[in-house]
Amino acid sequence: MTAKYQLIQKDREQEGIDLDVIQPVVGPPAVDVTRLYRDQGLLTYDPGFMSTASCQSSITYIDGEAGVLEYRGYPIEQLAKEADYLEVVFLLLYGELPNRTQLHEFDDIITHHTMLNERLKEFFGGFHYDAHPMAIMVGVVGSLSAFYHDSLDINSPRHREISAHRLIAKIPTIAAASYKHNVGEPIVYPDNELSYCGNLLHMMFATPCEPYHPNPIAVEAMNLLFILHADHEQNASTSTVRLAGSSLANPFACIAAGIASLWGPAHGGANEAVLEMLTEIGDVSNIDKYIAKAKDKNDPFRLMGFGHRVYKNYDPRANILREMCKKVLTELADNNNPLFELALKLEEIALEDEYFVKRKLYPNVDFYSGIIYRALNIPNNMFTVMFAIARTVGWVSHWMEMMSDPLQRIGRPRQVYTGPPRRDFVSLNRRS
Ligand code: CMC
Repeated sequence: MTAKYQLIQKDREQEGIDLDVIQPVVGPPAVDVTRLYRDQGLLTYDPGFMSTASCQSSITYIDGEAGVLEYRGYPIEQLAKEADYLEVVFLLLYGELPNRTQLHEFDDIITHHTMLNERLKEFFGGFHYDAHPMAIMVGVVGSLSAFYHDSLDINSPRHREISAHRLIAKIPTIAAASYKHNVGEPIVYPDNELSYCGNLLHMMFATPCEPYHPNPIAVEAMNLLFILHADHEQNASTSTVRLAGSSLANPFACIAAGIASLWGPAHGGANEAVLEMLTEIGDVSNIDKYIAKAKDKNDPFRLMGFGHRVYKNYDPRANILREMCKKVLTELADNNNPLFELALKLEEIALEDEYFVKRKLYPNVDFYSGIIYRALNIPNNMFTVMFAIARTVGWVSHWMEMMSDPLQRIGRPRQVYTGPPRRDFVSLNRRS
């Protein structure tokens, strides 16, 4: 639905420009500026996309002021409480919750795509023993495109769907193999009897010498974490996937680009950074010192796991995770409780501090996810990899949505040029 919006140009004697306004199902309306340059020779300027909707999407809705997150209309709290991760994967990918038969068939498809081509496994040997697993992920996921020439026609809906299934199914296998490479253990094959999350734990922690039975609490916690991380509308990595995909690049290359973007500490790398920060703070008695550092504009230190571009209220995912954090630490009798106590105290102090209150800086999803992963014995450098596994369905769903949109065109932002104006070339011997 569109309405008209009048933009008054101050330097053109109050001349008005009529622009369409796009009304979403919920959320703020968007002024359509697509014809502004062609019709008026004007650009819009919005670094960091503070006020820019880059696309229309029917996948995820966030109300940052109210702390609301919904996948395909379903509140995250309900999905977190009731759903299995693969049900959420189906929901994000196809738009509706699966019935029993659909879920069974989907589970079967994903389960039967979990193996890697044996040649692909040789890629891991090319990485240094201490390579960061995210570096391995970027390389190996991108190279999947070299294995599936037969189904890489991005104009074919069926090929797109097969690629989506392959990515969702194989990413845990690649992730577990990157961990095994790090610790010098043999790569473990998937076990088709296990659930998506149970199989990931199996591939990470089983060895050929000993049987491994995933702990049900660990599986439950991972299922929850994966649901909460599955999608988050147009975040940096999803926008990266869309931009890469807009040039009609293949889906494996696009998802590799998304993984690279997720790696940064301002995005998915924050869960790893939170644990490093808590370890550095070390003790409740040091909290005041670190809060002061976070507030000091001359100090690059930030409270990791705090703040969000969209949420100006509690991140609903952090609320859910805080409870799971307590449960995991209690039930797995983990010895990490001091870190959790430290996190709780840090949260309490920050939430009462004027600096954080004024800027609406609340704990985000990553504040607690790292503590849970640590309790599941997942090493710090694998935290962002876990996020990447869970987010793959979000990336793939956005890529599928974009590719089936008849209006899709290459993403090509413009700029406000600030360099030197035109000048003549000076030959080398005349330069001072
Ligand atoms: N610690 C201290 N000050 C902060 C923090 C923080 N974590 N986050 C924001 N601020 C301050 C910032 O200095 C600025 O202050 P001022 O207005 O005086 O200049 C104000 O709050 C607004 O911050 P911003 O950087 O303009 O906000 P943004 O929307 O561009 O950045 C963010 C959002 C998430 C990158 C940022 O809050 C941050 O760096 N947080 C820590 C990293 C983190 O936890 N990231 C995970 C995000 S959630 C998961 C995900 O998306 O992957």
